[in-house]
This record gives sequence, C-alpha cells and structure tokens, in this order.
Amino acid sequence: MTVLLETVPLLELATEEVGGAFGGLLAGNIRRARQRLSRLLFDRRYGVETAEFAHLDQFGLAHHERVYYSPANWGTLRRTLPAHEVGADDVFIDLGSGKARMVLEAAARYRFRQVIGVELSAELTEVARANLKSTRLPVRADRVDLIQSDVLNYRIPDDVSVVFLNNPFRGEIFAAAITNLLDSVDRRPRPVRVIYFNPVEEPFLLSTGRFRHLRTVTRGRAGEIDVFGTTRIYSITT
Ligand SMILES: C[S@@+](CC[C@H](N)C(=O)[O-])C[C@H]1O[C@@H](n2cnc3c(N)ncnc32)[C@H](O)[C@@H]1O
Repeated sequence: MTVLLETVPLLELATEEVGGAFGGLLAGNIRRARQRLSRLLFDRRYGVETAEFAHLDQFGLAHHERVYYSPANWGTLRRTLPAHEVGADDVFIDLGSGKARMVLEAAARYRFRQVIGVELSAELTEVARANLKSTRLPVRADRVDLIQSDVLNYRIPDDVSVVFLNNPFRGEIFAAAITNLLDSVDRRPRPVRVIYFNPVEEPFLLSTGRFRHLRTVTRGRAGEIDVFGTTRIYSITT
C-alpha cells in the first residue's frame, strides 16, 4: 500500500512537465486523490484524521509567513532518521505540528523519552489531541505533549535533541524560531539534529554558519533535487 501512495508524487512530477492551466488542474486533482488515498490507506488504519489540508484563514490566523496545514508523508521520519540513531534520552519536537501526524510517528516508532508538538491553531491542536486519544499506533500518551502556541511565544526546552520542520513558517518567523533553537543549544550545548522537510528556508539556516548538512532524502528524479518532497538533515554546531 505504501508503494501505491508513493507513486502519487511521481504523478505530481509528471504534471510539472505538462505545466500551464491544465497542469495546475491536474496537480489539484492529484493532490485531492493523494489526500483520499492517505485517508484510506493510513488514517483509517491508524485510527486518526490527518489527511485533510487546512488553510489558516479559516481559523482567522492567516499571515504571509505562516504556512497552511499540509502533513508530511507518513514514513517521512522512517526514511530520514534510522531508529538506532535515537536513544532513550532523546527528545523530539515538531514546530508547527498540525494534526500531529509526525508527532504520532515519532512516538510510535522510536524510543524518544518525550515527543512535543507545537501548533499555532487551537482547532488543529484539538484534532491532534483527538488523534492522540484515538490512534491505534503503539503510542504512550504520557510521553506526548501537544502544545498550542505561536512558535514566537514558545521557548524551546533545553533537552530537545531532534527538531522536525515541515516548512511551517517563512521569513522572520522562521529566523526567530531558529534563533530560539540556537539560544537553547547555547544555554545547554548538546548534539541536536534538525530534520527539515520541504526546506525552503535552507539558505537562512546555512547563513547562520551553525548548521552542518548531514544527508538529503529526496523523491526527485536522479540528479535533480526539487525543494518540495526533499528532506534535509543537519546537525547543529555547538
Ligand atoms: C505544513 S504544516 C506541517 C504540519 C506537520 N508538521 C506535519 O508535517 O504533519 C505547517 C503547520 O505549521 C503551523 N504554523 C504556522 N505558523 C505557525 C506559528 N507561527 N507557530 C506555530 N505553528 C505554526 C500551521 O498551522 C500548520 O499546521
């Protein structure tokens, strides 16, 4: 079933070749088909609702630097973070955690001591909390914290060691969140890895001189890397 879902991104790539209005229409249809497939193949099986996209204007939260809710693909962590690289003292955080898809994946598939999701929207946090209750994934709820907050008002805890970002915000908000993270690392120097899915603000990360690129996982065609669908993994220098 995973194979079936993963063929859909290839169709998306094909629509880019078509281009124009027809390409746009096709891309929209494929996106909807992908959400339906995800709901059918994964959400139903895992007892959650994470597939439906949500625009922030429907919650009165629209801002040009905030990105709407669209979940990372199930399996994104599995493909980017080998289980043996996570120890029983590691702490995971998803900044802009939406309906908690990656929070659930982190809590179910790894030995994290704690898994934290920080989400701006109260409505999405409510869905995330319902997902935590209803999921059939093997998650220990007492290890999961779902926090409703603007990342700008949230202080990253000094024991966080794996940070997940699925292109949640841009520009100055992104810069402030990264400063917040680096402040935490400077308060308590420790190894921290950052997993950045759809890494559109990578130039800013690299401009700080503190992020070392470790590896890239991409769905793109050989030799071509498109920022969307790509995951980059970095370590932070202390
Ligand atoms: C692209 S979605 C990613 C959702 C989730 N990380 C996943 O991969 O399934 C981006 C999320 O970031 C949230 N977001 C946007 N701006 C935010 C902010 N300033 N503080 C916290 N969350 C924010 C959005 O509400 C949305 O749920």
